[in-house]
Amino acid sequence: MTAQLAPALEGVRLSLHVLAATVWVGGQLTVVGLLGTVRRLGDDAARRIAKAFARLSWPAYAVLVATGFWNVAAVRGAQPAAWQVLLGVKIAVVAVAGVAAWLHGRARSQTWLGVWGAVAGLGSVAALVMGVFLAG
Ligand code: HEM
Repeated sequence: MTAQLAPALEGVRLSLHVLAATVWVGGQLTVVGLLGTVRRLGDDAARRIAKAFARLSWPAYAVLVATGFWNVAAVRGAQPAAWQVLLGVKIAVVAVAGVAAWLHGRARSQTWLGVWGAVAGLGSVAALVMGVFLAG
């Protein structure tokens, strides 16, 4: 098989989608990884970092959804049934991850912070993996 360059518009569409995924998914993993150090910086340091991250992550989520539908419009045509099913599952998981991230931002107890944060993080990683399979 010979490798080929993607057409320009396809390159823009997928680059925007993947760039937004790096911020939404990679940002969540990075913030979790830095949390121990952040907490030692002060009582409200974790809350402030979470707020600052939210200003980056929600625009990235919006770009993911917008470019996600752009992806669907561009490639849906003749896809097999399994692809369509995986797309439906992915859209549902993205919605669950978004709602969980929103609830995480509003949670007041450590338990619910952890529960919603975990659902948002795992859902986001799952959406990323499903995206890789959809791209084939
Ligand atoms: C948390 C949100 C999301 C993440 C992390 C994510 C991640 C990804 C990734 C990593 C790819 C693979 C790109 C590649 O390998 O070139 C992809 C592809 C894809 N995504 Fe998403 N995505 C998200 C949301 C969405 C949404 C909401 C939709 C649909 C409305 C969508 C539809 C697609 C489609 C159709 C492809 C295949 C594109 C192609 O083959 O050209 N994604 N996604």
